[in-house]
Amino acid sequence: MKNDMFYDIDLNRVPQHIAIIMDGNGRWAKSRFLPRVAGHKAGVETIRTVLRECKRLNVKHVTLYAFSTENWKRPKMEVDALMNLLSTYLINEVAALHEENVKLTSIGDISELPSKCVMELEKAIKLTENNTGCNLNLALNYGGRRDIKDALVKIIKDVKDNKINLDKIDENTISNHLSTKDIPDPDLVIRTSGEERLSNFLLWEVAYSEFYFTNVHWPDFDEKELQKALFTYQNRDRRFGSIK
Ligand code: IPE
Ligand code: IPE
Ligand code: MG
Repeated sequence: MKNDMFYDIDLNRVPQHIAIIMDGNGRWAKSRFLPRVAGHKAGVETIRTVLRECKRLNVKHVTLYAFSTENWKRPKMEVDALMNLLSTYLINEVAALHEENVKLTSIGDISELPSKCVMELEKAIKLTENNTGCNLNLALNYGGRRDIKDALVKIIKDVKDNKINLDKIDENTISNHLSTKDIPDPDLVIRTSGEERLSNFLLWEVAYSEFYFTNVHWPDFDEKELQKALFTYQNRDRRFGSIK
C-alpha cells in the first residue's frame, strides 16, 4: 500500500465523508476540441478511479454531485447524454460494486429522471442496500435549497399531525428530515476545475466542512490528486468554533 502513496497520509485520520463537485468536464473536452459529451464520458472514468482509491483508503461515504436541479437548463442533447451515461454506468458497474460490498444510495428527486435511470437506480439501490463497505451516494436532480424546502414541508406536516412538538424542533430535527439524514455531514468538500462556489450543493450539511478547490478538471483528477486533497485536509485545523 505504501508504494501507492504519493502523499504522507495518516490512514487513521481519513475523512469519513467526502463530497465532490465534479466540475470541468466541458472545459476539459473543449481544450481538446472534443464535444462536451466526451468530457462527461471521461468523467465517468474518473469516478471509477476515485471510488477505487476511496475504498482503498477506507473512506466510508463518497457523495458525488452528478446532476443539479439547475442542470436541466442545459441543452436537451447534453441532458440526454448525461442521463444515458448514468444508466450505462449503472448497468455496467452495479455487479462489480455489489461484489466489492459498496452500498449505492442517492439524494435528490430521482422521480424526475428518465424512467430508464429510475429503474436502474432503484435496482442498484435495492441490490446493494445491505452492503457494509463504502457508501457511494449519488446526488441526482439534487439541490440544497430544494432539499431544505422539502424537509421544512415534512416537518410542518409532522407538527400539524402532532407527531412533532413545535417547541422541540432543533437543528437535529432539520438534519433528520434532509435526504442526507442517514450519513454524517461531509468532512471534506472537493470542487475541481477552479470554480470556488457550492452551486446549491449540501447547503445545510457543509456548515463545518473543509473545502478543497483545485484547478484540475474532473477528467484529469486521479489517485494522486485525491491524496493531495486528503493531505491538505489532514493539515487543516478543524476548530468547530472552539480554541485549542
Ligand atoms: C461537470 O462538468 C458535470 C456536470 C455538471 C454534470 P461541466 O459540464 O459543468 O463542465 P464545465 O463546467 O462546463 O467545464
Ligand atoms: C455543479 O456544477 C453541478 C454538478 C457538478 C453536478 P455546474 O457546472 O452545474 O455549476 P455552475 O453552473 O458552474 O455553478
Ligand atoms: Mg461546470
